[in-house]
Amino acid sequence: MQLHMKIFVPGTIILAVFCFGYLVVILCQRARNCFGYLVVILCQRARKNQSDFRLAPKNGDLFSIWNFDGKIAYEDIIEATEDFDIKYCIGTGTYGSVYRAQLPSGKVVALKKLHHWEAEEPALFKSFSNEVRMLSEIRHRNIVKLHGFCLHKRCMFLVYEYKERGSLFSVLSNDTEAAELDWTKRVHIIEGLAHALSYMHQNCTIPILHRNVTTSNILLNSEMVASLSDFGTARLLFPNSSNRTMLAGTRGYIAPELPYTMSPTKKCDVYSFGVVALEIIMGRHPGELFSLVATSSLMSTKSSLGLHIMLKDVLDPRLSPPRIQPVASSVVMLATLALACLRSIPKSRPTMEHVSKELLNRRPKLPKPLHEISIQELMNQEM
Ligand SMILES: Nc1ncnc2c1ncn2[C@@H]1O[C@H](COP(=O)(O)OP(=O)(O)OP(=O)(O)O)[C@@H](O)[C@H]1O
Ligand SMILES: *[C@@H]1O[C@H](CO)[C@@H](O)[C@H](O)[C@H]1NC(C)=O
Ligand SMILES: *[C@@H]1O[C@H](CO)[C@@H](O)[C@H](O)[C@H]1NC(C)=O
Ligand SMILES: *[C@@H]1O[C@H](CO)[C@@H](O)[C@H](O)[C@H]1NC(C)=O
Ligand SMILES: *[C@@H]1O[C@H](CO)[C@@H](O)[C@H](O)[C@H]1NC(C)=O
Ligand SMILES: *[C@@H]1O[C@H](CO)[C@@H](O)[C@H](O)[C@H]1NC(C)=O
Ligand SMILES: *[C@@H]1O[C@H](CO)[C@@H](O)[C@H](O)[C@H]1NC(C)=O
Repeated sequence: MQLHMKIFVPGTIILAVFCFGYLVVILCQRARNCFGYLVVILCQRARKNQSDFRLAPKNGDLFSIWNFDGKIAYEDIIEATEDFDIKYCIGTGTYGSVYRAQLPSGKVVALKKLHHWEAEEPALFKSFSNEVRMLSEIRHRNIVKLHGFCLHKRCMFLVYEYKERGSLFSVLSNDTEAAELDWTKRVHIIEGLAHALSYMHQNCTIPILHRNVTTSNILLNSEMVASLSDFGTARLLFPNSSNRTMLAGTRGYIAPELPYTMSPTKKCDVYSFGVVALEIIMGRHPGELFSLVATSSLMSTKSSLGLHIMLKDVLDPRLSPPRIQPVASSVVMLATLALACLRSIPKSRPTMEHVSKELLNRRPKLPKPLHEISIQELMNQEM
């Protein structure tokens, strides 16, 4: 018994000391780890703050990303496009090439990489970023969303919402795709455009002119819903462009007074809208038809040109004429509004707000069948 205790007591003490020591070591490690975690978290925070900046020089180069929900990072974009590999390029415009990029989140965006960018000038950069911020605050179903931009070294790109079906121009030029655009879809496209332009003219803090409304600048999503694109690209790049050479739109869509007055107005956008609306109805650029229309609207006598063109003869021949009442009356109403927008005297054109409101009203029943209606009759309507 005595001997047992003599061995047991020191044994337990030694064991206890060992256990305590071990515990202390483990606790210390834990603590160190915890401390380490804390440091890492703080570093991450700081890094996060750094990547969230608006305008900060990095290694002497301007680097900035201004984005919608903090989920777009420059590295993601470079990875998604394999550093702007040509195989992701979906189009080229005047100011840059457009790339399709799928971000790690699965979201697909369109990137417009600008060709020329002399960003070293801070004043220009400031006005540019203000402009982007203003445009990216526009939320309208029929205006392509601008998520933000990224400026890195000498490479500059804008991040847009991606539109699967590409431009209306390309859809209308392809017989298969044009046939897919039935009358109901076309009516919705024109209505959407009218609402978008009215919104830009009336509801923005500073009214915004598009200046270049064409079928190429209208993009379609997978459901064939239209959005106006290129809103203010010219404005973004040339903030104070009272510069005359910058004012040109696209031939065939420019209001007749613009080459003389040289100052774009809301009524110039209204004219271009009229061209686009007719183009959607006709399936091709209205060309000679609207030059006839323009000249005849200058004449005081209504029958002077004897415009005996029938509406049914100018409708897109790839679709059968609209027969159901609400669709047929919508087409007639849109044609009437489009012709009013093409009047050569700017003052006599309706405003986009008027067009947009008109389109929200219920369609009146057609007084006679669509195939008996002439262009001349539509032009004589008050709008
Ligand atoms: N957001 C987008 N989603 C899908 N495709 C797009 C998008 N933006 C542009 N594209 C495609 O890229 C092409 C070129 O577009 P971009 O806007 O750069 O040029 P543009 O409209 O022809 O000319 P500009 O820029 O001079 O008006 C378009 O025709 C369209 O097919
Ligand atoms: C990060 O930025 C926010 C404000 O933008 C600030 O309150 C916070 O202290 C910053 N965090 C660190 C770790 O700098
Ligand atoms: C544009 O014009 C405004 C005033 O009209 C001026 O404050 C601004 O600095 C100009 N921006 C550039 C880039 O010239
Ligand atoms: C027209 O569109 C269809 C379907 O999208 C496509 O398969 C076809 O190649 C296109 N035709 C032309 C000439 O581009
Ligand atoms: C836009 O402004 C007009 C008045 O100018 C107003 O009647 C209309 O409701 C506004 N629309 C939107 C979507 O805010
Ligand atoms: C207008 O633009 C042209 C060409 O881009 C340029 O040469 C000219 O100096 C500009 N004029 C003004 C007043 O900014
Ligand atoms: C207008 O849009 C067309 C088609 O997208 C483009 O080719 C042209 O360069 C644009 N013009 C201006 C002045 O932005």
